Amino acid sequence: MTTRRTFLASAMAAGAAFGNSKTFPYQEFEQRIAKKDFRDMTKDVLPTPCMVVDLDLFEKNLKTMADYAKSAPIQLRPHVKVHKSLDIAKRQVALGAIGVTTATIAESELMSRGGIKGVLWTKQPASNNNIIRAVNLSKADPTFMFVVDDYGVLAKVDEAAAAAKTKCRIVVSVYAGLTRQGIANGQPAVDLAKRVLSTKNVSFEGWMAYSGGASHTKGWEARRQKSVEDLSGVNETVALAKKAGLPSGIVSGGSTGTYNMDHELGLTELECGSYVFMDSIYRAVGGKSNGEVYTDFENSLSIIATVDSKHHAGQATIDYGNKALIQTTDQVKGMPWMRLEKQGAEYGILRWNDGGGETKVGDRVEIYCSNLDMSTNCYDRYYIARGNQIVDVWPIMGRAGAAQR
Ligand SMILES: Cc1ncc(COP(=O)(O)O)c(C=O)c1O
Repeated sequence: MTTRRTFLASAMAAGAAFGNSKTFPYQEFEQRIAKKDFRDMTKDVLPTPCMVVDLDLFEKNLKTMADYAKSAPIQLRPHVKVHKSLDIAKRQVALGAIGVTTATIAESELMSRGGIKGVLWTKQPASNNNIIRAVNLSKADPTFMFVVDDYGVLAKVDEAAAAAKTKCRIVVSVYAGLTRQGIANGQPAVDLAKRVLSTKNVSFEGWMAYSGGASHTKGWEARRQKSVEDLSGVNETVALAKKAGLPSGIVSGGSTGTYNMDHELGLTELECGSYVFMDSIYRAVGGKSNGEVYTDFENSLSIIATVDSKHHAGQATIDYGNKALIQTTDQVKGMPWMRLEKQGAEYGILRWNDGGGETKVGDRVEIYCSNLDMSTNCYDRYYIARGNQIVDVWPIMGRAGAAQR
């Protein structure tokens, strides 16, 4: 049987074997985390696979976007689905964001209940459950807004709001090149906005136009052209609404890929999300100054994995597998010659060609994930690091199940 003493001894031996300066038994480790006692806690002692945020790079990303928004000028209401972290949302607001955008009602509830004002839920509540939750949240937090692109949903929201004796703030979702949501631009959109205005228990707040096809278009000029095309109908709608005497409201949209073009294309606020961390797919879209790599924002998030086994030439097994959402498009930090392959639930393969560079059992590699939204949803917390030292831990919230996500 493993006693605390034998466990401690073997943990220390393991630490010595792999050259770690300090190794914590897991129980003490969790107690230290709970107390935010990070003395001597370095990346080397973290259980893997885990997510680590480079605080300097992360803060730089936040500042770059905040400074840009101020200078453009355009408002910033960053999307939180990418990080699902109240700690991060608060930092974004502290740097000038007017609120946050969310993908689900659960994210909206978490952010609003955590004290974030100006939450905009970018998906309409179609189920009764979501309608009730959106109405209840509107009652609890009058700064909360959500989108609608359908007359039936609007009618149900109005009915539920009347029953709850509250008023809901509605943003009309219009088509912006992505066929997943948004009413047709022009007269159909203006007619829906008019209906919102004449509906008793709701108010009209403006338009939501997310141009998701533009965000990852490769090359800055091609991306700008796509954004111009995607937003042209939206601009027609806004002009038509003005002509019809509708009050002007917000025009929300945009992404990390289009942040530095959309203020000229009619948006009043940006919903960018990925810029806080960046992922390998975003890095490949190219930027204004570098056509191949999108360098406006830094890779501030990595997944640390441990080499668990190595018996075959040119490959090693790591503990970052399918459950941790390994992707073949992920990249290994500082080792561009390494390729990643899926192997099993808790296994991934690192593969390299002769002469590239080796790894050995016990080594740690840092990996840039391919898609932040998907990956962050698989982890409980971010370990926040300055250099090698852990300085904080931020929980990743609302991942328990569909209704909680
Ligand atoms: C509604 C909405 N707004 C904005 C974004 C932009 O996010 P990002 O900056 O991560 O591309 C997304 C991303 O999928 C989205 O779904």
